[in-house]
Amino acid sequence: QFSLFSLGCRREGEPPLINGWIPYIGKALEFGQDANRFLDKHKRKFGDIFTVQMAGKYMTFVMDPLLFPNIIKHGRQLDFHEFSNKVAPMTFGYPPTNSGKFPHMQEQISRSFQLLQGDNLTVLTESMMGNLMLLLRQDYLGEGAGREGCWRKSRMYEFCNSLMFEATFLTMYGRPVTAPRHSGTSDLREDFARFDSMFPLLIAQIPIGLLRRTKTIRQKLINYFLPHRMSCWSHTSQFIKRRSEVLEQYDTLRDTDKAAHHFAILWASVGNTIPACFWSMYYLVSHPEALEVVRQEIHDVLKLSEVEFSSDRDVTLSREQLDKLLFLESAINESLRLSSASMNIRVVQEDFSLRLNAERSVAVRKGDIIALYPQSMHMDPEIYEEPQTFRLDRYIQDGREKTDFFKDGQKLKYYLMPFGSGSSMCPGRYFAINEIKQFLCMMLLYFDLQLEAGQSRATLDSSRAGLGILLPAQDVSFRYRLRAV
Ligand code: HEM
Repeated sequence: QFSLFSLGCRREGEPPLINGWIPYIGKALEFGQDANRFLDKHKRKFGDIFTVQMAGKYMTFVMDPLLFPNIIKHGRQLDFHEFSNKVAPMTFGYPPTNSGKFPHMQEQISRSFQLLQGDNLTVLTESMMGNLMLLLRQDYLGEGAGREGCWRKSRMYEFCNSLMFEATFLTMYGRPVTAPRHSGTSDLREDFARFDSMFPLLIAQIPIGLLRRTKTIRQKLINYFLPHRMSCWSHTSQFIKRRSEVLEQYDTLRDTDKAAHHFAILWASVGNTIPACFWSMYYLVSHPEALEVVRQEIHDVLKLSEVEFSSDRDVTLSREQLDKLLFLESAINESLRLSSASMNIRVVQEDFSLRLNAERSVAVRKGDIIALYPQSMHMDPEIYEEPQTFRLDRYIQDGREKTDFFKDGQKLKYYLMPFGSGSSMCPGRYFAINEIKQFLCMMLLYFDLQLEAGQSRATLDSSRAGLGILLPAQDVSFRYRLRAV
């Protein structure tokens, strides 16, 4: 909470405080411009832990990843949901779930996250494979499209967006009872992109009324999920079905509120996955030797199951087969390392002394925010040699997944955190990795892929720093043609 009392004067044992030049707005503007550089600069000056006054909040950044485990395990005193319960309803337009009006809703929603994992993950993965194959056949492998030997041009982000948005949508929400695909998906996708470009401002709690057409666009997106529409869809995932059942239990929820909950899940399921697909594809296509290793690995895994790939037939890769793709997984993790800029936020529940390690504690106050910013760990040359470079085998050692990463000679418990941590860890992470793998398998199996010559390297657009996987600053042109097998 912002209070005049805490302005500028810190108590004993508290971390160094960096006030902004303009009180209240504090350092928020500078942070927004380039969060990673801002934090790096302050780390060099103030050490591994410091507090920044930003937009009326006190945010204590813990920069040393060796200290992360102690923050992450303090679930009770450092709460994640206090933050998300306030910000998510405002952003997506539903009433706060913990207001007392909806008893046990929060627990039921959290329980529904299990339906993205375990046995349900197998079903989701199979369904995603079928949907990707359907779209690929109809839009990219059909009559006249990319025949053997003939190159076609496309924009890479647009390509990933078009395929993954629709395939994920069909897998999560299902399809019309009467057709294999929804009409109007490209309009939905365009509205979604307009909303998404305003997302950083909404998360910063700028009232939506000030953001010109965003409110209208959001309502249009929400309306897509009104119960009378969803009831005409079949093949809906268990996860979404369960959420609909939970929402149905509350008479105080209007239809538009229920629809807004479903819209929030659409954002969660594609908002990060699509840029993650882009970066994984981009790094592979811009490293042809790495791409060949991964392509060979996919063929080898198919051969183990005695499947000879042929572009005339549909390919299926089971969950077990996807799990065997070590190089592909390393390529995806490496791409996530290079493009993720999520912030892990916890709100302090009471004044207490936060133990960081055997020798060190800091005093924190109720209402303050503790923030971890993993991008600075992902880019630390002590942990990751040549951190700006894409290395296919970064996460492989002796033919297995590499999990040993060190800082100051000590093994790190957390070294890759694109999916958050502890109580705020992304429940869709296994599904996300599987669907990115499926997408890349299809690309590599069916197509030759090349970047168009004469382009500068793709760079990160930092405008959503703190919120997840960054988008590319500009799209990249590439070409593809059906592979001769
Ligand atoms: C939460 C990352 C894909 C569902 C989160 C959080 C992160 C994250 C960092 C925590 C937010 C925070 O700490 O404030 C990612 C990335 C993805 C991805 C990098 C893809 C590469 C998915 C997918 C789904 C999903 C495919 C669903 C199908 C969710 C949900 C939450 C969440 C429901 C909220 C959890 C809660 O309220 O406790 N995600 N995510 N995510 N993610 Fe993901």
